[in-house]
Amino acid sequence: MSEPTIESILQEQRLFPPSAEFASKCQIKSLEDYQQIYERAKADPVAFWESIATEELHWFEPWHTVLEWKPPEVKWFLGGKINISYNCLDRHLQTWRRNKAALIWEGEPGDSRTYTYAQLHREVCQFANVLKQLGVKKGDRVGIYLPMIPEAAIAMLACARIGAPHTVVFGGFSAEALKDRLLDAQAKLVITADGGWRKDKIVPLKEQLDLALAQNGVPSVAQVLVVARTGQTIQMEPGRDHWWHELRVGISPDCPPESMDSEDLLFILYTSGTTGKPKGVVHTTGGYNLYTHITTKWIFDLQDTDIYWCTADVGWITGHSYIVYGPLSNGATTLMYEGVPRPSNPGCFWDIIEKYGVNIFYTAPTAIRSFIKMGEHYPLARNLSSLRLLGTVGEPINPEAWIWYHRIIGGGHCPIVDTWWQTETGGVMITPLPGATPTKPGSATLPFPGIIADVVDLEGNSLPNNQGGYLVIKHPWPGMMRTVYGDPDRFRRTYWEHIPPKDGQYLYFAGDGARKDDQGYFWVMGRVDDVINVSGHRLGTMEIESALVSHKAVAEAAVVGCPDEIKGEDIFAFVTLENNYQPSDSLSDELKQHVVKEIGAIARPGQIRFTDGLPKTRSGKIMRRLLRNLAAGQDVVGDTSTLEDRSVLDKLREQDH
Ligand code: PRX
Repeated sequence: MSEPTIESILQEQRLFPPSAEFASKCQIKSLEDYQQIYERAKADPVAFWESIATEELHWFEPWHTVLEWKPPEVKWFLGGKINISYNCLDRHLQTWRRNKAALIWEGEPGDSRTYTYAQLHREVCQFANVLKQLGVKKGDRVGIYLPMIPEAAIAMLACARIGAPHTVVFGGFSAEALKDRLLDAQAKLVITADGGWRKDKIVPLKEQLDLALAQNGVPSVAQVLVVARTGQTIQMEPGRDHWWHELRVGISPDCPPESMDSEDLLFILYTSGTTGKPKGVVHTTGGYNLYTHITTKWIFDLQDTDIYWCTADVGWITGHSYIVYGPLSNGATTLMYEGVPRPSNPGCFWDIIEKYGVNIFYTAPTAIRSFIKMGEHYPLARNLSSLRLLGTVGEPINPEAWIWYHRIIGGGHCPIVDTWWQTETGGVMITPLPGATPTKPGSATLPFPGIIADVVDLEGNSLPNNQGGYLVIKHPWPGMMRTVYGDPDRFRRTYWEHIPPKDGQYLYFAGDGARKDDQGYFWVMGRVDDVINVSGHRLGTMEIESALVSHKAVAEAAVVGCPDEIKGEDIFAFVTLENNYQPSDSLSDELKQHVVKEIGAIARPGQIRFTDGLPKTRSGKIMRRLLRNLAAGQDVVGDTSTLEDRSVLDKLREQDH
């Protein structure tokens, strides 16, 4: 399978309209319907969002102002009072959905659980009451470091219920990365588990948390709540650590939801940027609830009988918005899987689809590419006929993988929604609507109603069709991030100053390159900054460089992305050593392991190349463009006249041959 090149993607002309039968059953049934809604929203975004907020959500008190936009500060539904856990749970209890499955969970070792809305509500209330008993109050930040078990969703909803913002840290992050995030968020309590299952092994989550908290590493953390999952022996620190199953005994299943201001902090989620320090992306309550609700409803065309499965981890924004909040706000049945396909069970995804009769399946292009490699006999051996809609997220999908997904998994009849969005956007921004938008393999197609997207140059001028530029959003939307936690300056610099306001209009800079074709379809080409996307996981090159240079053998490090058949991109590190160290395979392995310890397995460099020097400009800036060429095994292209010392590049090239 060949990697997509910009040219091959742009030449992709195949068009896949939804079948008339499929479209006829959808909420938005035609391109004309979409265009009409889109134009109405564009003409008056405030009225558009206001009408959806009124129709779709329960508010304890109405807002007095829909939008306050003092760039880059934004507020939605000012004065409105709301609770997202109420919208995700309580309001369904008053309907027939009370006894509908809210959450179906499949554990990796083969155990499973199902919670109805009534049961999930009870669990969340008990969890919330335990948090309160441990002293958590409205506004206190709570860290969640859990495997993919129902308690992860329960803990998030419990925090939301009492107004305690959560910060979920992906269970694959190491103690160091966890500590940085808990410190930045000033978490008061952390929820974790004795361990989690991953690829037939136990991930020692509590042990990692103990390391992060050792020697008063995170002074704000006073309590730890531990969920029993794997049953392995762990250390429990008296006074600090508590078992969830012990504290819940006799706890009331009744916990009234806190009345939250629409703009109260709902959660902080850390994501990688261009500096070594991850950003705490801030999302607030009302706008996020509204945006995840309506995008889930229209993009997945949810029907009340659907079994919906998003394979992401709740540690990422996709898990927040499209496993937990969006689906539950809609009263859907959301499926959650603890594991990932593993050597001992390469067909596990297809088993789960068959077992539960999954109708909507949402996954990442990397997963699709690895399924292609494993062979189509695995999916073909299962009955996947329940599927009616497929989705992808997290990275560009190459047309070959798209076609395979369509043909082998979707049986040639399921529309595919390729959804472009980011941690910062809260929800999907550019996407087909399955009953309306003819799709083109590799294109995320058209903006969601209310989203005004464009491709511009660095001065903010709109570019003509088919010309590459920067993807921007021109009008605020309810799900957008509000700030970088504790660093409003970074928020301004990162998203609002790369491209200056154009004719008084502020442009949200997404950090992605894109172009539009003659039908106005968006083709997202990937990051234009020092962020790389490995298997749909977003990593900052500086973060990995900082991890490398924290090893005693490393003098300097430069990290770039290089194309990878399965992962999309892989991590390629150029390293210069301190005087008394020699390059060797064992040192290379040691450095890779060091990065795993500092950040987590997702950041393990695929390749480390030792070098005597790094190509730099005369002002000392590393010329990453050249390194990217070298890492991709290409000739160095473009201007090299600013190089300080040409021989460094020549030597690196020699190594290449
Ligand atoms: O580069 C884009 C890529 O993933 C980035 C956002 O990463 P993150 O905040 O971790 O969120 C991932 C899940 C929403 C984007 O800047 N990306 C995401 N979806 C797509 C994509 N690139 C191309 N096509 C997509 N559908």
